[in-house]
Amino acid sequence: MNYQVIIPAAGKGKRMRAGKNKLLLQLEDRPVIVHTLQVFEADQDCKQIILSIHPDDKEAFSNLVKDFGLTKVAPFVMGGKERQDSVYNALKTIDEEGIVLVHDGARPFIKKEHIDSLVNRVNIDGAAIAAVPVKDTIKKAANGFVQETVERSSLWMVQTPQAFRVSLLEKAHSKAASDQYFGTDDASLVERLGVKVAVVESDYDNIKLTTPEDLYFAKAIIEKSRKGV
Ligand code: CTP
Ligand code: MG
Repeated sequence: MNYQVIIPAAGKGKRMRAGKNKLLLQLEDRPVIVHTLQVFEADQDCKQIILSIHPDDKEAFSNLVKDFGLTKVAPFVMGGKERQDSVYNALKTIDEEGIVLVHDGARPFIKKEHIDSLVNRVNIDGAAIAAVPVKDTIKKAANGFVQETVERSSLWMVQTPQAFRVSLLEKAHSKAASDQYFGTDDASLVERLGVKVAVVESDYDNIKLTTPEDLYFAKAIIEKSRKGV
């Protein structure tokens, strides 16, 4: 089943403290964003990649698309102040019906099998997100004291990709924009419409590279996959 993917890549990577967009950092033999893009480049069901970038990174991204022979990347979309703006700007360039995935540029370890599960599920339910069960015990606290222990079995750590019917995601973003509502993911905008979002279990390798130690975890994940674990 065909889909298009929006990849927000217009952040500054402040928490990575690298002095530049973390997506341009080298991870083994290529930049982080190239790892991410190559997953979708290799997936036959992916018809187009819409990349939202910061204007300052235009030349760097253009060179990568050329040097790594990436053929599915559409003309770049300029991102916005928040991730949500960057996704919405990209979404506005898609006029077709069908399925759209939104996937963070900073998650280079997404696997084809989980993309397939999401695409299958979104065809049934209209909205589906990748997630993994929470491993730790989670408590709510205020002023340094525990208020409540939250029942763990119902908790999920939410990742991307998040998959939607294009028309549904357009409606959700348009309403969020007119309400001046900012959510931390795309699904939360859809949830506000009262639409049910399906949870699809992915895996713990699909981390988002956020802080400097994540680069060490990333190397370990690459090592692990080389060993076929
Ligand atoms: N992103 C974006 N536009 C923004 C902010 C973020 O396209 N205005 C993208 C990032 O490039 C990243 C993804 O959204 O691929 C997830 O965001 P995050 O991990 O928070 O990255 P940054 O915003 O770059 O990092 P930080 O919050 O530490 O500055
Ligand atoms: Mg951010």
